[in-house]
Amino acid sequence: MTSEIEQLQASTLDALQHLQDAAAVDALEINILGRKGKLAALLSRIPTLPPAERAGIGTLASEVKQTLQLAFNGARGKFSGTNDHSHFDPTWPGVAPSIGHLHPVTAFVERSVQFFTTLGYAVADGPEVETAAYNFDKLNIPANHPARDLWDTYYLNPERDGILMRTHTSPVQLRYMETHKPPAYVVVPGRVFRHEATDASHDTNFSMLEGLAIDRDLHITDLIGTLKAFLQHTFGPVKMRIRPSYFPFVEPGIEVDMSCLICHGKGCSVCKQTGWLEMLGAGMVHPVVLKNMKVDPKKYSGFAFGIGVERMVMLLHGIPEVRLLLSGDQRFLEQFHY
Ligand code: PHE
Repeated sequence: MTSEIEQLQASTLDALQHLQDAAAVDALEINILGRKGKLAALLSRIPTLPPAERAGIGTLASEVKQTLQLAFNGARGKFSGTNDHSHFDPTWPGVAPSIGHLHPVTAFVERSVQFFTTLGYAVADGPEVETAAYNFDKLNIPANHPARDLWDTYYLNPERDGILMRTHTSPVQLRYMETHKPPAYVVVPGRVFRHEATDASHDTNFSMLEGLAIDRDLHITDLIGTLKAFLQHTFGPVKMRIRPSYFPFVEPGIEVDMSCLICHGKGCSVCKQTGWLEMLGAGMVHPVVLKNMKVDPKKYSGFAFGIGVERMVMLLHGIPEVRLLLSGDQRFLEQFHY
């Protein structure tokens, strides 16, 4: 009986191929699948079969019925001009493609760079793999000087001296001045690397925006005014506080704090109850560094600053965890459509 059912399926599918209109399809369907059709006739013999065969026939019969039903529907559709996709409604809204956008760090860097270019700054970049000469020596940080320990460095050679991942963008100060003469105003956005244990506010890989200005009669007030304009451009009407600090390539060196965005100076957990947030390091370019740039410290002076970009992005958007920024997690990134 199995072969008879299979035969019926094959001959019906074959017959369908040769039909010319929907009425003929209807007629064939009734002839085969109708209540008194051929399939029903075959199945009416099931009770005469040995019990072991019955179940198998039942399954086969329902498969064949399904196959043929689809074939009849398809054939009818062909003649009526629609097809079996008649459930498709072309007026439904489509699935919107997701649209790419800038990463919040990139967007911040672009906006900041634009601020400085309107002040007349050029934009430069430099290599992420640096030599110790540029990352340290020329910046007045000699070998074996304890100040090298201020930066936890990834060295790329086993001797741990010559080649490294740059720990800051300051080496580009020197590289830029190899091909430019004062007056020089330049900002340098870029990726830097530090061998640190990561936590919510430290990552091994982050971005800095370096600034360098060299001109006649530049004073620390020029530096302070520039930074204040930048912070207020970025965060609105914040207050700024200057503290003395130490970086070997500037003298004097300063660290710049900004009034806390969250509590406006009253004290909260973000500013550790101080009312102030540490924002960046800066200072007047050290005479030794000016000489390394082949700039005469008697004629020219300069200032430099290094902005930690992720820190600023976190404050700007209220992001509690720096590592989210490099996670590539779409659920996080999609919140920053600019
Ligand atoms: N390069 C310093 C750092 O990595 C920041 C800095 C830049 C400080 C320029 C002073 C002047 O922390």
